[in-house]
Amino acid sequence: MLRTLSKIVQTQKATFASAAAAAPAPQTNPDILYTGLFINNEWVKSSDGKTFNSENPATGQVIAEVQQAGKTDVDIAVKAARDAFKIGSPWRKMDPSDRGRLINKLADLIERDRAYLASLETLDNGKPYLAAYYGDVAGVVKNLRYYAGWADKNHGKTLPIDGKYFAYTRHEPVGVCGQIIPWNFPLLMAAWKLGPALATGCTLVLKPAEQTPLTALYVAQLIKEAGFPAGVVNVLPGFGDTGAALVDHPDIDKIAFTGSTDVGKLIQRGCAGSVKRLTLELGGKSPNIVFGDVDLEYAVEQSHMALFYNMGQCCCAGSRTFVEDKIYDKFVEMSAERAKRRVVGNPFDPKTEQGPQIDSEQHTKILGLIESGKQQGARLVAGGGRAGDAGYYVQPTVFTDVKDHMDIAKTEIFGPVQQIIKFSQMDEVVERANNSDYGLAAAIFTKDLDKANYLIQALRAGTVWVNDYNVFGAQVPFGGYKQSGIGRENGPYGIHNYTEVKAVVVKLTDKMS
Ligand code: NAI
Ligand code: MG
Repeated sequence: MLRTLSKIVQTQKATFASAAAAAPAPQTNPDILYTGLFINNEWVKSSDGKTFNSENPATGQVIAEVQQAGKTDVDIAVKAARDAFKIGSPWRKMDPSDRGRLINKLADLIERDRAYLASLETLDNGKPYLAAYYGDVAGVVKNLRYYAGWADKNHGKTLPIDGKYFAYTRHEPVGVCGQIIPWNFPLLMAAWKLGPALATGCTLVLKPAEQTPLTALYVAQLIKEAGFPAGVVNVLPGFGDTGAALVDHPDIDKIAFTGSTDVGKLIQRGCAGSVKRLTLELGGKSPNIVFGDVDLEYAVEQSHMALFYNMGQCCCAGSRTFVEDKIYDKFVEMSAERAKRRVVGNPFDPKTEQGPQIDSEQHTKILGLIESGKQQGARLVAGGGRAGDAGYYVQPTVFTDVKDHMDIAKTEIFGPVQQIIKFSQMDEVVERANNSDYGLAAAIFTKDLDKANYLIQALRAGTVWVNDYNVFGAQVPFGGYKQSGIGRENGPYGIHNYTEVKAVVVKLTDKMS
């Protein structure tokens, strides 16, 4: 039901009114209750007194002054997480089924405060309230409940070793985890990290993005309310240097990171220092391949949402729309019309499809890439500049006649800018779609089963959607080939990334006196 509704909000403008009617009204001025560092289940100030501002991207105005964790705070939080992980600690002694109950309790509390959390996310991030309510917060609850079920099911094997031995494996928690998350889905990315770490019995220090610290801090308080032992979860707001201090910390066993490929590479190097376990979920330039046999109206709408959902700020955005030559002109015309109809505005307004970009840095980057598209000869058929005077809004923008060598066809724009690229042959589109440093996601729109099955095998991407886009499930792994990352989140694969396998071999006696 929730997934269906979130899909409705994404895809069918006509049903926005009914989705809005079914959701509680947003709190347009939600209380901001927690702005400190959360260490050992307590709220504290940063050791060196530093703070930073979180702003509302719809207006550019400061909404909260937040404590900024420095290296000393990282040391204190890692020690708390290490102590909570010690053998014999309340967390390590807890029955796995009780760990699952705690995670479910956290999901209950998030569900209880769903409208508040969606409102706070909208204020801090700028995403439309209905998307936050039906997409983000609902996804968080589903993810936590899925991993709650895993808490007592991460079992090892018994092994038929030669000789008189009993051999088995224990699936043990990997240890203290440093989790560094981005600003595009602040709550959801926190949940993707928390769920498997807590299910396996790890402890952790989570660093939200500097643009969007507020919802993770509120969730920290819910973690305390749910009854997690002190030190299991610690949340440290801060910038890249705070993240780097986690990466460099010798007492952290694993880093999980979602963000830019450039920072992912730095982190991979940093982890080498103490051979930390590492999962990286990085950028993308995902191909969305539309064949001439499709229902045009459906394919245009899906391709529009594939790119424009969340203001284009999706690592898996369908940012290279490959369209077969025989429908190309019509597809371009309809896509431009759709983009011009896109409702840009106040994210608390239920009619709004598109809010602001996250900050001035992203705004500037996107406008610069739009300029490069114009200069390099792509043809602009919708948008092409900033929208409004206040906040970080960008017009829904569509480029046609895009060539593979152009910057807009190669660089992750992370904004509401669609590139429509013509193709004519199957082998040609396979080669061009795969000709990217990235390999996060891909989609195929066709009614021809043979074409779809051929492309499913040929495309080098961690996810392939057929006749749909942006379909996520807690049960389904997500992650990248090539420079889009290492490892998978969600589903059983998410559990593997937080598990160490211990082999145990016990000598058996065959004689008892
Ligand atoms: P970023 O990669 O710099 O930030 C992501 C997280 O990493 C934040 O929490 C940040 O504080 C932290 N971080 C930054 N430098 C770090 C370092 N040296 N060590 C450890 N942690 C560090 O991404 P940014 O600057 O916000 O966005 C730049 C571009 O990255 C975007 O335009 C977009 O193309 C891409 N991006 C991709 C995301 C994804 O979902 N894969 C999410 C956010 C950004
Ligand atoms: Mg950065």
